[in-house]
Amino acid sequence: MSVSPDGSVAGMIAQLKSIAEKALADLAQASTLESLDEFRVAVLGKKGSFSEVLKGLGGIPASDRPAIGAAANDWKRKLEEALDARKSELEEKRLASQLESERIDISLPSRQPPAGALHPITQTTRKIIQVFSRLGFDVTTGPEIETEFLTFEAVNIPKDHPARDMQDTFFAGPGVVLRTHTSPVQMRAMREKGEWPVRILSPGAVYRCDDDATHSPMFHQIEGLWVDHGVKMSHLKGVLEFFAREIFGSDSKIRLRPSYFPFVEPGAEVDVSCFNCSGRGDDGCRVCRGSGWLEILGAGMVHPRLFEMAGFDKKSGYAGLTGFAFGLGVERIAMLLHRISDLRLMYQGDLRFLSQFRA
Ligand code: PHE
Repeated sequence: MSVSPDGSVAGMIAQLKSIAEKALADLAQASTLESLDEFRVAVLGKKGSFSEVLKGLGGIPASDRPAIGAAANDWKRKLEEALDARKSELEEKRLASQLESERIDISLPSRQPPAGALHPITQTTRKIIQVFSRLGFDVTTGPEIETEFLTFEAVNIPKDHPARDMQDTFFAGPGVVLRTHTSPVQMRAMREKGEWPVRILSPGAVYRCDDDATHSPMFHQIEGLWVDHGVKMSHLKGVLEFFAREIFGSDSKIRLRPSYFPFVEPGAEVDVSCFNCSGRGDDGCRVCRGSGWLEILGAGMVHPRLFEMAGFDKKSGYAGLTGFAFGLGVERIAMLLHRISDLRLMYQGDLRFLSQFRA
């Protein structure tokens, strides 16, 4: 590049001025930080247009150089200020667009982790407890590993009773079994209190050597016991009828069929009218299979021998003391209510099955 058309001081200053002015005008067009950098190099860089002009300084008399130098520095400073201003402008723009594009919308609902729910057995147990709580039954529990004595002798189950068969009972050690029913809690409750009235409900797991579509080696029962002077079979009926209506629907009926359990006398199997066909016993009814009735529990009047076994003090007047007891299977009731045909589904932990019972 030539120093200046005429090599004069004025010409050179004019040249610097025109480069600087054009550069200042072009600056506005640099729309990215990268192009701004290129622009800076092209004008002010070692081989930039501005520097090229100043290379001609050698051909200028020494006395004239300060004037050109001062003018050059002046323009250079202006250019640099303008470049810096444009740079911060572009940086701000870039930040703003980045903030916009990387913006996180915190108002969007997050992905919910799948929520768990209570197992159908737990749901059914709680529902039943609620019903009896309203009648004043207190919930109490007993151990699942129980003495043979409390499981059998104390509730009047003789040595030769089939329930004590090795085939039915899991023996956990000498004199210790996995309880085969919740009835030992009757005895524990009476012994603990040592007097009456006793009105308890006792839910929990029980164990029997059984395994098919309707029997599991572990299942759940709820035991009920109400002991007081004047408790009659009619009270048992009334309480169970209330229970049946609350659980199976308000038009439910119950019937008692004579049956034998060693710890009650008289004893009964209790049926509830089929909630599916309203007890009509419809031919094709899949719930009651046409009988109109569903067997739901065992019950009866507490055998007097249990009061003896409970250690109630005869002198304190328990003569004539009565009571009723009942025991129901939770699985059976849950299966009826939800029309579940295979009990084993309850214990396979399959979420496809279990998630249907989300309350
Ligand atoms: N314990 C009995 C059973 O497991 C049920 C029952 C309890 C029957 C109380 C009568 C009274 O089958």
